[in-house]
Amino acid sequence: MKIANEKVLVLDFGGQYCQLIARRVRDCKVYCEIKPSHTPVEQIRAEGYKGIIFTGGPNSVYEESSPKCPAEVLELGIPVLGICYGAQLMAYLLGGKVSASQVKEYGKTETSFQPGTLFSGLPPRSVTWMSHTDYISTVPEGFSVTAQSEACPVAAMEHDEKKWYAVQFHPEVEHTEYGQQILEHFLYRACGCKGDWEMSSFAQEAVRQIRETVGDKKVFCALSGGVDSSVAAVLVHKAVGKNLTCVFVDHGLLRKNEGDEVERIFREQFDMNLIRVNAQDRFLAKLAGVSEPEQKRKAIGEEFIRVFEEEAKKLGKIDYLCQGTIYPDVVESGTGDAAVIKSHHNVGGLPKDIGFRGLIEPLRDLFKDEVRRVGLELGIPAPLVWRQPFPGPGLAIRVLGEVTREKLDVLREADAIFREEIAAAGLDRTVSQYFAVLTGIRSVGVMGDGRTYENTVALRAVTTSDFMTADWARIPYDVLEKTSNRIVNEVAGVNHVLYDITSKPPATIEYE
Ligand code: XMP
Repeated sequence: MKIANEKVLVLDFGGQYCQLIARRVRDCKVYCEIKPSHTPVEQIRAEGYKGIIFTGGPNSVYEESSPKCPAEVLELGIPVLGICYGAQLMAYLLGGKVSASQVKEYGKTETSFQPGTLFSGLPPRSVTWMSHTDYISTVPEGFSVTAQSEACPVAAMEHDEKKWYAVQFHPEVEHTEYGQQILEHFLYRACGCKGDWEMSSFAQEAVRQIRETVGDKKVFCALSGGVDSSVAAVLVHKAVGKNLTCVFVDHGLLRKNEGDEVERIFREQFDMNLIRVNAQDRFLAKLAGVSEPEQKRKAIGEEFIRVFEEEAKKLGKIDYLCQGTIYPDVVESGTGDAAVIKSHHNVGGLPKDIGFRGLIEPLRDLFKDEVRRVGLELGIPAPLVWRQPFPGPGLAIRVLGEVTREKLDVLREADAIFREEIAAAGLDRTVSQYFAVLTGIRSVGVMGDGRTYENTVALRAVTTSDFMTADWARIPYDVLEKTSNRIVNEVAGVNHVLYDITSKPPATIEYE
């Protein structure tokens, strides 16, 4: 859908900062899209981009297998900014020379700048973030060198007439002192962008387009109570009202009070057609006797699809299916030879054969924090908008080993206490994810004058920005102390509480 007046292309050469570049561009109020490096030139031309950014990447331009784009991309008359590998690729494609250095320049680097489109108005020296071994040793014809560091003779180069710009460092990371300004200079000065991309215009435009697509047809949405599916459902509801039916499958693996809360918000506050399917018994039956993590995940995923199909059948013909797919899902599913560590699933993994006319995915172009901004704007309550991530298989992967109703009840209570204490300490926005785990270990304790032989609960809390890597959160001891005291005193069946101090990697955030 057309959601912006002007847009920029981020051409992905495999760099780990690709999505970060896109985020930073959007912070400059310029809408942008990520496409793979092999995107055909004709497609790029047809999209009418105002600028193109070549990302970094782990390769060397002289390796045969390294990702490249055709040189014609540079000749489209669209301003181009190359970053790191992207800078070297620009030099290579235009006849300059890239060489391997003996020293790897990595981390914070004092860099000096000369005036030019990217750097005019900035101090002559500042810190940039470098991460490279290769460097541009000879600039292509027509370029001038506009920045240097001690180890890097061409930390930046420009060909202002052709509107080609290249930086060896990473302007997108926060350690580069004037990184954001440098990106702004490229977008505003070189590309002529106005920077008028706003989330409010997004919501209005999305509602208008959903209405146009759906007309008076029916839409069906699987609501999980997570941020993405909630925001998607509310947008569609604004567009088509009662022609939207949401199905909320309560698999009994939710946190304390969560199911009722979702029902209250969507049925009462938003007055939506909501079907809550109480499928707790079915899921528990499928989980009986299953203790292997992947089998648990599979059993839940399959049962979820079955319940959903049954509900869909009851409703008769479905015209459109609404899903809360967001941009990182789209980009990540486009790549991916990565090893399967865990088979993640959520309501995104719905059957494609239930016979609907089309998919409505209003958040396909947004990053998570943008989805949250839209959510707040639509009046979704803040606790839901800021809800921490919760895995599709729910508490089943936090009860280690076989899942039973009794174990789930113990875990739900312990988890609720931990969440209450984190919120009371004002840590709920700084800690990225926090929860309790029933470890399956039974331990001896003493309560009153008697011996107990009960459950060991682990507390897990992490900080992370992308959930790919994570560090354990340094929660103050007094918060841990209070949580531990409350859990052993208030939750029957728990006599030891542990705090997990492993990062990811080597651990993962969830235990199964
Ligand atoms: P791991 O445990 O792989 O988790 O370090 C990374 C993030 O993903 C969440 N997670 C899931 N989310 N469906 C989801 O929607 C799943 O099956 C699933 N498994 C893990 C996890 O909570 C963490 O935020």
